[in-house]
Amino acid sequence: MTQDQWQAVDGYISDLLVPQDEALTEALAASDAAGLPAISVAPNQGKLLHLLARVQGARTALEIGTLGGYSTIWLARALPADGRLISLEYDPGHADLARANLARAGLDKVAEVRTGAALDTLPRIAAEPGAGPFDLVFIDADKPNNPRYVEWALRLTRPGSLIVVDNVVRGGAVADASSEDPAIVATREMFELVAREPRLDATAVQTVGAKGYDGLLVARVLA
Ligand code: SAH
Ligand code: DHB
Ligand code: MG
Repeated sequence: MTQDQWQAVDGYISDLLVPQDEALTEALAASDAAGLPAISVAPNQGKLLHLLARVQGARTALEIGTLGGYSTIWLARALPADGRLISLEYDPGHADLARANLARAGLDKVAEVRTGAALDTLPRIAAEPGAGPFDLVFIDADKPNNPRYVEWALRLTRPGSLIVVDNVVRGGAVADASSEDPAIVATREMFELVAREPRLDATAVQTVGAKGYDGLLVARVLA
């Protein structure tokens, strides 16, 4: 199996099931033009996030790692008009671009981007009356902090909430117990934390496609 095949199948799937969309296409084009890395979720993955949020009946969502707001648009569109999404982004340039992309998508009333390191902004959100609990949390920022982000997600959710973590397989490296890559070490720590957390019921799936070989973890908050 090759990346070419994965790409072709992603193209086939997205052509049929994920129609071209001006706001999403422009968000990616603007991100590219601004020199942001091409690490947004793939279109069919964005649609999966959207469907998960819909099935969840989510009214509120928290995203950690905005980039240009591509996944943010997918998630925000799943919320009702009076819903609320907060997305956390460290890089002020990324945050500004994401705000522009969300405004162009007509989502600036629903989705808000907060600038700062998520470990600094999360405690502020926790202290803010009415900011949580969130029905869905999407974790997709700096991987070494994934265990901390899952802990925060547990504090900021309710029974029945969904937590989704991107990039949990990393070309298969997650199965390498001897890895010294901080992203892998932390991802493994995150898996172990989720495994022993009685409040979480979880699985993870490997994915191939336009974004290579990676995976997603999905966890339901039980209590
Ligand atoms: N969710 C986006 C992709 C996010 S890429 C999408 O799929 O469209 C990861 C983002 O996390 C980058 O924009 C990066 O600047 C941001 N990031 C890195 N470290 C962070 C931190 N400590 N706090 C918040 N955001 C961070
Ligand atoms: C990287 C980050 C992501 O969120 C992603 O989906 C792919 C790659 C990265 O930092 O390399
Ligand atoms: Mg990602």
